[in-house]
Amino acid sequence: MAGTGVFAEIIDGDVYKYYSEGEWRKAASGKSVAIINPTTRKTQYRVQACSQEEVNKAMEIAKSAQKIWAKTPLWKRAELLHKAAAILKEHKAPIAECLVKEIAKPAKDAVTEVVRSGDLVSYTAEEGVRILGEGKFLVSDSFPGNERSKYCLTSKIPLGVILAIPPFNYPVNLAVSKIAPALIAGNSIVLKPPTQGAVSALHMVHCFHLAGFPKGVISCVTGKGSEIGDFLTMHPGVNCISFTGGDTGIAISKKASMIPLQMELGGKDACIVLEDADLDLVAANIVKGGFSYSGQRCTAVKVVLAMESIADTLVEKVNAKVAKLTVGPPEDDCDITPVVSESSANFIEGLVMDAKQKGATFCQEYRREGNLIWPLLLDNVRPDMRIAWEEPFGPVLPVLRINSVEEGIHHCNASNFGLQGCVFTRDINKAILISDAMETGTVQINSAPARGPDHFPFQVNQPPHKLLLL
Ligand code: G3H
Repeated sequence: MAGTGVFAEIIDGDVYKYYSEGEWRKAASGKSVAIINPTTRKTQYRVQACSQEEVNKAMEIAKSAQKIWAKTPLWKRAELLHKAAAILKEHKAPIAECLVKEIAKPAKDAVTEVVRSGDLVSYTAEEGVRILGEGKFLVSDSFPGNERSKYCLTSKIPLGVILAIPPFNYPVNLAVSKIAPALIAGNSIVLKPPTQGAVSALHMVHCFHLAGFPKGVISCVTGKGSEIGDFLTMHPGVNCISFTGGDTGIAISKKASMIPLQMELGGKDACIVLEDADLDLVAANIVKGGFSYSGQRCTAVKVVLAMESIADTLVEKVNAKVAKLTVGPPEDDCDITPVVSESSANFIEGLVMDAKQKGATFCQEYRREGNLIWPLLLDNVRPDMRIAWEEPFGPVLPVLRINSVEEGIHHCNASNFGLQGCVFTRDINKAILISDAMETGTVQINSAPARGPDHFPFQVNQPPHKLLLL
């Protein structure tokens, strides 16, 4: 159970502690932040509201610890990461329980998130040993006008203190995808988890603590974004920011100083369906891609661009599958669970109402109870509707009917987002040409967008494309 057994030391009364200087601590102010369970809409957990002074302390120790950590042999860094991965997987149940309670992730998906995170930590340790264990050797006479009189040796060195800010939808997996590469490379980490997802993240951090990472190499501060958000991202002690989330990333990039930024900011992943596609395969992928975790994935299918000639059949097939989705609490492992917050549900509802007013075809009746929104397919969506362009991050999927491939590519490329996309056709030559024309980081062929397996490249906005052939 969360907060018990080996995790007992991370909680004080009903408030989870933050992690700094290698210890679990309480905020000096005594203030805490409530985490609302999306299903019950009641306070589920509380975390410490760290102050700016407490952030300063975590930064200070991260800076000094990094110097020592960078000198720790690479094999030793890898060994500790493997240990943390094993501990994480061993304690998948209590961590998954937190994911169910604070972000309403369906029970089985919650367990999968923890296990895949452990695997990613191990994989990163393995790869890190190889990649960081190599350097380059250059000779001067390969450049015009030079004799072979100079030699150059290069190797990869750490950046320093990495500020990691993962999103609510994968507070464990997208945290370790920042933490593990940073640590294996000799950096230290200051983690600011999302409020919703913070307790899952604190449990995950404890697994690193139990593995025996040196004091200060990892810290995890919790609190109000209004108090410590900008303070963290503008902190002079930060040498790199790795952020996954929405528009906040744009604000961070404007405020941050001249440091490397790694950003992954949402998506409106287009699914282009041609006349010759296997429509059963397409329908299965649209439902899985569009509705798993209630559409709250940056890689979810977020707009279907279907050729007019097959659109009726496709919509019928998708509707048949939507009808089979189970709707309810995450504890029951339902397919569709409450979205993360009331404000998120209200935003989704705003997009639905706009589409209704502008004449979209509702394939199901719109239904909402609290944060729970029933899956909804909107057909005959037109470009003047907000849902054609905005990311609902919920179980609502628009279908735009297109009359040419060019129209589909144009819609995809006119989007502000360019994370992933997919194309369905039996003609592989066409598929490759369309993938090449889609201005997205990744295109999947005959498969729904997805980040995993987690070791695949996950590009943002720019080619090269990943082609996944089924
Ligand atoms: O929400 C963003 C995640 O990176 C999506 O990951 O494709 O494995 O669900 P996923």
